[in-house]
Parts: sequence; structure tokens; C-alpha cells
Amino acid sequence: MINVAVLGYGTVGSGVVEVINTNNELINKRVGDTVKIKYVLDLRDFPGDVVENILVKDYDVIVNDPEVSIIAEAMGGIDFPYECAKKAIAAGKSYCTSNKELVAKHGPELIKLAKENNVNFLFEASVGGGIPVIRPINESLTPDDIVEVVGILNGTTNYILSKMAKEGSDFDTVLKRAQDLGYAERNPEADVEGYDACRKIAILSSLATGKYVNFEDIKTEGITKITDVDFKYANLLGLSVKLFGRFKKVDGKYFAMVSPVMIDKTHPLYSVEDVKNGILVRGNMVGDVMFYGSGAGKLPTASAVVSDIVEAARAIGRNINIIMSDEKLELSDISEFES
Ligand code: NDP
Ligand code: HSE
Repeated sequence: MINVAVLGYGTVGSGVVEVINTNNELINKRVGDTVKIKYVLDLRDFPGDVVENILVKDYDVIVNDPEVSIIAEAMGGIDFPYECAKKAIAAGKSYCTSNKELVAKHGPELIKLAKENNVNFLFEASVGGGIPVIRPINESLTPDDIVEVVGILNGTTNYILSKMAKEGSDFDTVLKRAQDLGYAERNPEADVEGYDACRKIAILSSLATGKYVNFEDIKTEGITKITDVDFKYANLLGLSVKLFGRFKKVDGKYFAMVSPVMIDKTHPLYSVEDVKNGILVRGNMVGDVMFYGSGAGKLPTASAVVSDIVEAARAIGRNINIIMSDEKLELSDISEFES
């Protein structure tokens, strides 16, 4: 029996419970053991809900329970999840998270700590929602020098841009819809100002290079300065407005940025619409590899979190090598960036 605890019973956390309950038989078969949710941690009560009898409010109950071997976090924020991760790993439990803020800030330290304790720190859902992209980069693109990553990495802003372009809807109305659909961050400034995409391209760049790319070094512009006039010009020219996160290696120099762009029909990310994300990874041997799918939302994101739970369950007693050291990668000035 593999006992799991879920931290946070909001959009993603409730999705994790739903995925495990709905596909339990299948998941057990794939793990080769029975996966059971023993606890859910949240600040609220959920009377009548499936988790009513396993809800706890004190993290110590979870971290001090030797039967719990995997903790999945979907609370958001930094300080508390960071403390939870350190305590879990020190107690010999694997920690899976959808929290890109946590990974972008403390990823290398938590990966190292997990290695020292022979457990795992996994974060598939931190980039691209339901799209498998972390594991493919870490485990499949290993022979390649990854020379470029370009992606639509934020579902909320892609949803807003798509609806504004197609329906002429106003920014605030569509943002409210994205929030109601569970796509947006608790503070949607993180989405619309590009900070969320910045953390995601920092995580992908770190994995691509095996070093630590500090998100604070990445020049970032969101979508709040885009006006009706921009959409009119884009329409006239047959272009599409997107928010890109980009990483590129040129002549041994590394560049990363987040900014809105206009792309034409020939661009592989042109038709990535609504909440979908698309990520193009270029390796020096494999060439271009594309990832596409739902970039946010309850079940797609939960599916990615549960994929980490499955991976951690299969790897009990073994650390999976995540190629992201704490050695910092220096980025070159963006003014030299070739687009
Ligand atoms: P929600 O706000 O919907 O859910 C978070 C839940 O965690 C809430 O129920 C909240 O309770 C609870 N919580 C927060 N702090 C604590 C705490 N200290 N102790 C116990 N419970 C706590 O957020 P999401 O599910 O949307 O997002 C969760 C994480 O997943 C974030 O890091 C987000 O960036 C990430 N993510 C989200 C995606 C999405 O599509 N929504 C996609 C990919 C990643 P309360 O409401 O009472 O505060
Ligand atoms: N708010 C994020 C987005 C959630 O819209 O992409 C997924 O990381």
C-alpha cells in the first residue's frame, strides 16, 4: 500500500483526489501496488465531500505519519510549501508539486535534498499544466544539447488573448472567465504580467542546461500593455498575438525572455488557442520536438500531479536523477538576443 497525502483541496488538489479515485484500478496496475489517499490538508471543512473523513488541518499529522510515503502539494504560495517540502523530504517522503513559484525559487535545493535522502522531488505540473514536458526533457532528450525552448506557457493569458482576438471581448471580462474556470493564479497579476510564464521558462531553461536559471534575471513583459489597436493590426496582417517564454543558446551565450509577440500562420505555435499551451524544444541532434495540450485547469493539471505520484511510487527507495544543479547560469543581455 502506498499512502499519499494531498496538501490543498482547491482546483488542483481536488482534481488530484478525483483522478486517483476515478482511475484507481488503472493507476494501481501501473504502479504495481495500491495507491491510497490517507490525508487531505486544507484550511476549510468540506462537509459531505468524499474527503470529509480524511481532512486534517495540521501538517505535522501528515509528516509524522510513517505510513505516508508521498506528499502532493497544490496549495500555492512559497513559505509554507517550502517548509512542508523540506520536512517531508527530511522525513523520507517524496514531494510532488504543481507549485512553479516553489520550483523556480527553491528547486535546486529541494532536488539536492531529495537526492541526499534517497526520495524524490517531482514537479511535472509546474510547467504546461497537463502537458508532459518536464519528464521528457529530463529523461528523453538527454543525448541532446537543448539550444532553444519557445513556448506559450500560460493558459490564462493565452485564453484572454484568444478571446480578445476572436470575440473582441474586453480584458477584464475574459480574465474573470479564466478565473471562474480555475485557470488563473490566486493573484492574477502573476499571469497577466508574465511572472508565471517567467518562472516556467526559468524551470525549463534550468532543466535544459542542467544549471540554475534564476527567474529574477529574465526580462519579462506581460499582456497588459496590448491594446485594441494591436489586435486590429494583427488581424489586418493575418497575425496572431501570443505571450512567449523563450530560451536560446547562441554561440555559447544564453538568453531568456518573456514578451508578447505577433506570429504568422507558418509558426508552429500559431494555432495554439484558448487555455492550450504549446512548447517547442530544439535539440542539436533530435531537431524540433513539440508539446501541446491543456496548460491549466483542474483535471489536466491533476493528471500531471498524479503522474508524479505514480513515478514516485514506482521509485520508492530510489532517487530519480533530476538534471538541475544549484550552479547558477549567467544569462546574456537580452539586447543581443536574435529572434
Ligand atoms: P486554489 O486556490 O484553487 O487551491 C489552493 C488550496 O490550498 C485552497 O483550498 C487553499 O485553501 C489551500 N491552502 C492554501 N494555503 C494553505 C495552507 N497553508 N494550509 C492548508 N491549505 C492551504 O489553487 P489552485 O488549485 O489553482 O493552484 C494550486 C497550485 O497549483 C498553485 O501553486 C498554482 O500555481 C498551481 N497550478 C495551478 C493550475 C491551475 O490550473 N489552477 C495549473 C498548474 C499549476 P483556502 O482557499 O481556504 O485558502
Ligand atoms: N495560472 C496558470 C496558467 C496555471 O494560467 O497557466 C497553470 O500553471
